[in-house]
Amino acid sequence: EKGAPIENIDFSFDGPFGSYDVNQLQRGLQVYTEVCSACHGLKYVPLRTLGDEGGPMLPEEQVVEYAKQWEVFDADLDDFREATPVDHFPESGLATAPDLSLMAKKRKAFSGPYGLGINQLLYGFGGAEYISALLHGYTGEEKTQAGVTLYENKYFEGGWLAMGPPLYEEAVEFADGSSNSIEAMSEDVAAFLMWTAEPKMAARKQAGFAGVLFLTLLSVLLYLTNKRLWANVK
Ligand code: HEM
Repeated sequence: EKGAPIENIDFSFDGPFGSYDVNQLQRGLQVYTEVCSACHGLKYVPLRTLGDEGGPMLPEEQVVEYAKQWEVFDADLDDFREATPVDHFPESGLATAPDLSLMAKKRKAFSGPYGLGINQLLYGFGGAEYISALLHGYTGEEKTQAGVTLYENKYFEGGWLAMGPPLYEEAVEFADGSSNSIEAMSEDVAAFLMWTAEPKMAARKQAGFAGVLFLTLLSVLLYLTNKRLWANVK
């Protein structure tokens, strides 16, 4: 079955007051670094943002250390050099692997029913759910088409994609002793990719809440004003 229904995951960042779980983002960063980065880039993500409030919040020295493992092309030197926090993550090393910076906002898990979008209202768009599901949705079937090996995945729209199962049990070792089952790692890296796609989510939600509060108050005041204005007209 292709494009199978995807289940909602209760992420910490769901809902109008949700925010990212710092430990989960750090674990997801680790999965990305140790596994996904072999093929996928994050070219829109500045390395310095790993230290930002609301993100993985790495201490400053760790951001500097972390950045050193990447090589970036420096136009001034006309050569590659070690990255620093002012650089971005590199682009995809494998040309056919899409950049993952915004992937969590490009894909969705929920829609409908009947085009009404009720599921999206209740569960969000589900970009993170989609990524998480994709990583453990392999059926084990593979085929070769026009010289390319394709792997069957029940959550991929087309049913077959050119990415083999990237994760295996215990692929990474987490310092916080958190589970490294395929499902747990999938969720962690999906949460991390939600953050890369929307690093200012907390600010957006706060502004939204303030806006709703303000408009509620304004409605009450306008109602009372209206009552008063028309009080003498019978
Ligand atoms: C595609 C995530 C590791 C190669 C994708 C897509 C996602 C993704 C979300 C897009 C699927 C879509 O179009 O809906 C990840 C994550 C990884 C990972 C989170 C780490 C856990 C890898 C690795 C390789 C790779 C290690 C290379 C060995 C590819 C390729 C595609 C792809 C070639 C394009 C597939 C196609 O469109 O047929 N990946 N990936 N990925 N990935 Fe990965």
